[in-house]
Amino acid sequence: MSDLLVKLYELPDVRLHVDKLRAEGINVRRAMAYEKHQVVAWVDDSFGKAWAGECDVAFSRNPVSCIIATENRIVIGFACYDCAAMNFFGPIGVAEQVRNRGIGKALLLSALGAMSQSGYAYAIIGGVESAEFYLTSAGAIEIPGSTPGIYRDRIR
Ligand SMILES: CC(C)(COP(=O)(O)OP(=O)(O)OC[C@H]1O[C@@H](n2cnc3c(N)ncnc32)[C@H](O)[C@@H]1OP(=O)(O)O)[C@@H](O)C(=O)NCCC(=O)NCCS
Repeated sequence: MSDLLVKLYELPDVRLHVDKLRAEGINVRRAMAYEKHQVVAWVDDSFGKAWAGECDVAFSRNPVSCIIATENRIVIGFACYDCAAMNFFGPIGVAEQVRNRGIGKALLLSALGAMSQSGYAYAIIGGVESAEFYLTSAGAIEIPGSTPGIYRDRIR
């Protein structure tokens, strides 16, 4: 498990991905404060309490640092930033039944784009098990010596 670095000044264009999903009935957008209870509960049910805690932090920010994917007004994916630490991207998750349709990539690039707009030049993706999704979707590279990074002395 190590951290990855992404150049925010050379991000692939996300608009085509978001438009394609919209045509399929899937919206990728920033979560609204009034949706906090549904989004955090969905993350808890789908991915557990640790990620729900980080997602909760995203809703303490304004603008909310959580991008969601919805279909028929139901949450099907989420991506957060500035939660575990400033400048950190994550967590991200997509509902199992809709994976491999480009939703994760649209969430990742939308959240990284929001980080770029808020003034960061690079983003750190913390504690990644498999770098491949981030490598193919955003050109992320591994940060040498970043294990265990900030995730040391973690309470069991
Ligand atoms: C990782 C995750 C968010 C990807 O979401 P997704 O909607 O299935 O991903 P996409 O369909 O947008 O895939 C984008 C690209 O990444 C690749 N990819 C997706 N998941 C991958 C994986 N687990 N390993 C390697 N490559 C992967 C796809 O093949 C695709 O490549 P392409 O653009 O060349 O076609 C999703 O699998 C998930 O929720 N996993 C469980 C939670 C998790 O592990 N989060 C990351 C923690 S570090």
